[in-house]
Amino acid sequence: MNVFDALSQRTSVNYFDTERAISTAEVLELLDYAQHAPTAFNIQHTRYLVVTDQAAKETLKDIAYGQQKVADAPVVILVLADEQGHERMPDIAQRGVDAGIYNEGVRDYFVSAVNGAYGDNKAAAHDEALRSASMATMNLMTAAAGKGMATGPMIGFDTAKAKEVFNIGERYSVAMMVTLGYAKEGNWPRKPRLAASEVTVLDGRPGKLHDLSN
Ligand SMILES: Cc1cc2nc3c(=O)[nH]c(=O)nc-3n(C[C@H](O)[C@H](O)[C@H](O)COP(=O)(O)O)c2cc1C
Repeated sequence: MNVFDALSQRTSVNYFDTERAISTAEVLELLDYAQHAPTAFNIQHTRYLVVTDQAAKETLKDIAYGQQKVADAPVVILVLADEQGHERMPDIAQRGVDAGIYNEGVRDYFVSAVNGAYGDNKAAAHDEALRSASMATMNLMTAAAGKGMATGPMIGFDTAKAKEVFNIGERYSVAMMVTLGYAKEGNWPRKPRLAASEVTVLDGRPGKLHDLSN
């Protein structure tokens, strides 16, 4: 499926085929596509906790206020945003040097820039990690749609409880949960969207008033 079809055919699925599994290799392939998403300074803040054990999914379903799809989907992914992701920058930036993309001077600039931007600014680090995790999640869902799989992004769960029960460290914010599998019959079709023309101001200019001014 091409990317345009994947984007327009993806829906949030409520009813999963409980008989159709997804392999670990398939999950990792989708997460590699998620990893292609852009991140601030290429920090790559996103981490993934994959839950496939049925009893573990039942526990997660309780944490998600009983949403049945969490137990039905063969795979549930907790998408985590590492608020201290920038601390890994020396390693990440070195990989760009090793790949021959930039030199040591650029590497050192990146390391110092991320420390300056996030080292003493927890709010900025939190926002940036969540932004990046959201982009990775969209990549994940688009890649799954491209392969004929179904997903559902979810935040209707007790994130603090999920962290506690699944032993997720303090430094990680739970950005989202994504159910993954194959759809069965009975799901809603794509819900109507506001057209781009209804939500867009074209030709913004300094001082010009427009629909988004109030
Ligand atoms: C951040 C986020 C959180 C969501 N949380 C839930 C959820 O907890 N339960 C649920 O059934 N759907 C959840 N959804 C799915 C939305 O309801 C769905 O994306 C929206 O209605 C549009 O439908 P579509 O994705 O099928 O196009 C969530 C979506 C997003 C982006």
